[in-house]
Amino acid sequence: MKFTPKTLLLKNGKEVIIRSAELSDAARLLNTVREYINDSEYIPKLNEEFTLSLEEEEQWIKSFIDHKNSLLLIAEYEGQILGNINISSHQRIIMQHTAVIGMGILNAWRNSGLGTHLMQQAIEWAEENPVLELLWLQVYNENRLGLGLYKKMGFQENGVIKNFFKHENRYYDNLTMSLSLK
Ligand SMILES: CC(C)(COP(=O)(O)OP(=O)(O)OC[C@H]1O[C@@H](n2cnc3c(N)ncnc32)[C@H](O)[C@@H]1OP(=O)(O)O)[C@@H](O)C(=O)NCCC(=O)NCCS
Repeated sequence: MKFTPKTLLLKNGKEVIIRSAELSDAARLLNTVREYINDSEYIPKLNEEFTLSLEEEEQWIKSFIDHKNSLLLIAEYEGQILGNINISSHQRIIMQHTAVIGMGILNAWRNSGLGTHLMQQAIEWAEENPVLELLWLQVYNENRLGLGLYKKMGFQENGVIKNFFKHENRYYDNLTMSLSLK
């Protein structure tokens, strides 16, 4: 299902474009994701584990173009990709009405309302989709910005797996949240 590009205003007064990712975005998106993974405590992937090649990144973008119940949105300001949100629908029939959300934003652009815009656009698109009924995500229980955003957007807390993440001998809890679109 197509997404119509939008221009939206952030709290810092800047206008960003939110649109579907295209294959030609692969190199810039790869750089952005690498940068925000590197400086976020709350994405469970170490920098050295982020080893996608340009071709693999293109394949990843293509998978969203090919799957009509999935969506990959990027936010852009003056040609720079600031972050993304992805809705990945389940490919098995029994769970095809569900989709998992992932998102990330460059450090300098966090807490600016950009996550709210990305999530709002993704939810509105999912509500229009005739197949999707349930969005869900997983988040570090300590991720205040993430939790603040997801609760504001209506996500319910489903449950916690304690000590799910372990990094440098510290444990973190994993919270699953979901939003019913019905
Ligand atoms: C999580 C993330 C996507 C959120 O996007 P964002 O642009 O920072 O979020 P927003 O500014 O739109 O919204 C955050 C909300 O949390 C609120 N908030 C900020 N600090 C908070 C705190 N300590 N406690 C509770 N709420 C808080 C903000 O006030 C804001 O709500 P408001 O707009 O009603 O004031 C972004 O911070 C990010 O990319 N973080 C690093 C990667 C990451 O954690 N990804 C998600 C993995 S699940």
